[in-house]
Amino acid sequence: MTISHSNPQSADSRTGSQAEQPIILLDKVNKWYGDFHVLKNVDLAVRKGERIVICGPSGSGKSTLIRCVNRLEEHQGGTILVDGVELNDNTKNIGHIRREVGMCFQHFNLFPHMTILENLIFAPIWVRKMPRAEAVETAMHYLNRVNIAEQAHKYPGQLSGGQQQRVAIARSLCMAPKIMLFDEPTSALDPEMIKEVLDVMAELAEEGMTMLCVTHEMGFAKSVADRVIFMDGGEIVEQNTPTEFFDNPQVDRTQAFLSQILHN
Ligand SMILES: Nc1ncnc2c1ncn2[C@@H]1O[C@H](COP(=O)(O)OP(=O)(O)OP(=O)(O)O)[C@@H](O)[C@H]1O
Ligand SMILES: [Mg+2]
Repeated sequence: MTISHSNPQSADSRTGSQAEQPIILLDKVNKWYGDFHVLKNVDLAVRKGERIVICGPSGSGKSTLIRCVNRLEEHQGGTILVDGVELNDNTKNIGHIRREVGMCFQHFNLFPHMTILENLIFAPIWVRKMPRAEAVETAMHYLNRVNIAEQAHKYPGQLSGGQQQRVAIARSLCMAPKIMLFDEPTSALDPEMIKEVLDVMAELAEEGMTMLCVTHEMGFAKSVADRVIFMDGGEIVEQNTPTEFFDNPQVDRTQAFLSQILHN
């Protein structure tokens, strides 16, 4: 079965100049939680197919930043464009973005009372209005992709953490997203399960998925990312290719952070 990640608005159907536009564009994005200025003039342009790893100390705004990209959080200043659509109060725009952007969190958020298969077909049937047989076929395709098809009829509680996280990734893929956001998808896992999830993410990257990953898995960043972004205090402090970022960090705060995480 061929599963297409394109839709009628895909870059392929656009004119050449539009196809060059970043798929995610943040321009001077500012966000406050009450008085607390959590994102400060964040500029970020992500090309289609680019793999970005975001790292930085706890509380630096990494989760807030990626949650703004699918409007789980609202920004108050600046502009966010995703796939050419501006994120604002227009609920039609938000609906469009949510269909294009898949998200995978630290905790898997699977429905505990549904089997793995039911978890995967739920949104395609109810949100995408996909016929059930097609939804099941798509779900089994992606469960195979993450090497877990034999678990389709189990409940989430019967799976290991690594297996549940792979199910969560497969569930996102069933919605044919153009962009995947990951927020520390391996940080709640036991060490022996981390690799199986990172391997699935690396495969996705290889297939050209645009990815924004908050992670402190620096091996993953080195081997998969096109660009590593370091955040501190709500700002993007430094960004570079993984090689430059790790071997030649420019800013004191990045050096201090790297020496902490690499020596632990
Ligand atoms: N809903 C909220 N209301 C108020 N403050 C919040 C809220 N969510 C996050 N914050 C604060 O905003 C700051 C950034 O939080 P965020 O979760 O984006 O950080 P993070 O970089 O993802 O941290 P971690 O590495 O611990 O996940 C923190 O100081 C946090 O306490
Ligand atoms: Mg976070």
